[in-house]
Amino acid sequence: MQTNISIAEGIYMIGVNDRRTALFENIWPIPHGVSYNSYVICDEKCALLDTIEFGSEGAYVDRIKGIIGDRNLDYLIVNHMEPDHSGEIETILRRYPSVKLVANKQTRKIMEGYFGDVSTNFMEVGDGDKLELGKHTLHFYLTPWVHWPETMMTYEATEKILFSADAFGTFGVTDGAATDALTDVEVYEEEMRRYYSNIVGKYGMMVQKALAKLSGLDVKTLCPLHGPVWSRQAGEVIGLYDKWSRGEADNSAVIIYASMYNNTAHMANHIADCLAEQGIKGVKVYDVSKTHLSYLISEIWRCRYVILGSCAYNGDMFPLMELLCNSMLHYGLKNRDLALFGSYSFNGGGVRALKKFAEASGWNMICDPVEVAGRATPENLSKFNPMAEAIAEKIKNDK
Ligand SMILES: Cc1cc2nc3c(=O)[nH]c(=O)nc-3n(C[C@H](O)[C@H](O)[C@H](O)COP(=O)(O)O)c2cc1C
Ligand SMILES: [Fe+2]
Ligand SMILES: [Fe+2]
Repeated sequence: MQTNISIAEGIYMIGVNDRRTALFENIWPIPHGVSYNSYVICDEKCALLDTIEFGSEGAYVDRIKGIIGDRNLDYLIVNHMEPDHSGEIETILRRYPSVKLVANKQTRKIMEGYFGDVSTNFMEVGDGDKLELGKHTLHFYLTPWVHWPETMMTYEATEKILFSADAFGTFGVTDGAATDALTDVEVYEEEMRRYYSNIVGKYGMMVQKALAKLSGLDVKTLCPLHGPVWSRQAGEVIGLYDKWSRGEADNSAVIIYASMYNNTAHMANHIADCLAEQGIKGVKVYDVSKTHLSYLISEIWRCRYVILGSCAYNGDMFPLMELLCNSMLHYGLKNRDLALFGSYSFNGGGVRALKKFAEASGWNMICDPVEVAGRATPENLSKFNPMAEAIAEKIKNDK
C-alpha cells in the first residue's frame, strides 16, 4: 500500500505506481511505468475525483477509508472515462451505494456503455456549474477531446487547484516524489512529450481550446491523472503542453530510416556525418525496425527537421516506415521540414511512397528526394552531399 499524499488542507492524492504493465493502452511501451492518480477532498461533504486502472491497487478502498474514515463518500467526480481512470467506479459504487457520480451528458453515455443504467447515482453537471463541498467549491469545465469527447476538468477555487484529467500528465512513475516539491520537470520532460504526442497529440487544437478556456483561472496547482502534482513548476508544464499542442518544434533534426540490408542505413549515417561536418549538432538517427514507433513519434514532435529514408519493399516503402508515416498523418502534425531518401534494386517504390506521404502531410520539402540503386558505394553516397548541404543551410538560416 502506498502513502496518500496531502496536497492542501483536506485534499489528498491517491497515486498508484504501475511498474508491471509493459504497454500502455497495449501499444505504448512504458519502461519507466506510469501512475494512475485519484484525489480525495474531505470537507463537510467527501468527494473522490476519478478512480484508477482496475486492479492496479488492491488496497484502493482502504486508502480512501484511510482519509475519510467511516464517513460516507458523497461524490465521485468523473473527469475522464478512459478505463485507466474509471476502472474502479464499480468498486466505489459497491462500497458507497449512495455516491453521486458527478459528470456531464457525454460521460453518461460512455458510462452506460460500461456499467449499464446509472440513473440512480448520476448527477449531471454542465460547463461552468459548481458544487459546494463546504470550505471547498468545485467548478466544472468541459474540455472535450482532451483526451476523449467527455473529458472535463475540475477547478477547486479555495486552493486554486485544477484537476486536469489527462492534460499535463506524463508517463513515468512518481518514485516517492509525487509532488514537484520533490522532483523537476526536466526529469519528466522526455516522458511527458512521449505521453503527450502518443496519447493526446491528435487533439492539439482541442488542447489549445482548453488552455484558452482555462486561461482566466488562477491555477496554483495542477493535479493530473498521470505523474506528479505540479505546483512550483505548474507554469513550465502548462508551457510545454502549450508548445506541443501548437506543434511547435525545436530547431533540431532527426533522421529515421528503414533498411533490411544496411544500404539505406549507410545513407542515413552519411547524411548525419555531413550534417555534423556542416556544424549541425545533436542530430539523432533511428532505425525504424529497432526503435518503437512511440519514441519516433515523440522525436518528430521534438524536431523541426525530419529526414526519412526507406528501402523499396514490394513496390512500396518498408512496412514499419509506412506505419510511422500513417501514424503521423493520423496525428495531423503540421509545420515540419522534410527530406527523403532511399535505396532500391529494380522498380523502386520506397521513395515514391514517401513522396505521397510528403504530399498528404503538407510538410515542406527542403530539397528533391534522393534515391539510389543498389549498394551505398562511395560514389552513391556522394549523391547525398547536396541534400545534406541543403538541410544544413535551412537549419542555419532558421536559427
Ligand atoms: C522483400 C523485398 C522486397 C523488395 N521490393 C523491392 C521493390 O519493390 N522494388 C525495388 O526496386 N527493390 C525492391 N527490393 C530490393 C531492395 O529495395 C534493395 O535491395 C535495397 O537496396 C535494399 O536496401 P537496404 O539495404 O537498405 O535494405 C526488395 C527487397 C526485398 C528483400
Ligand atoms: Fe485518456
Ligand atoms: Fe489517462
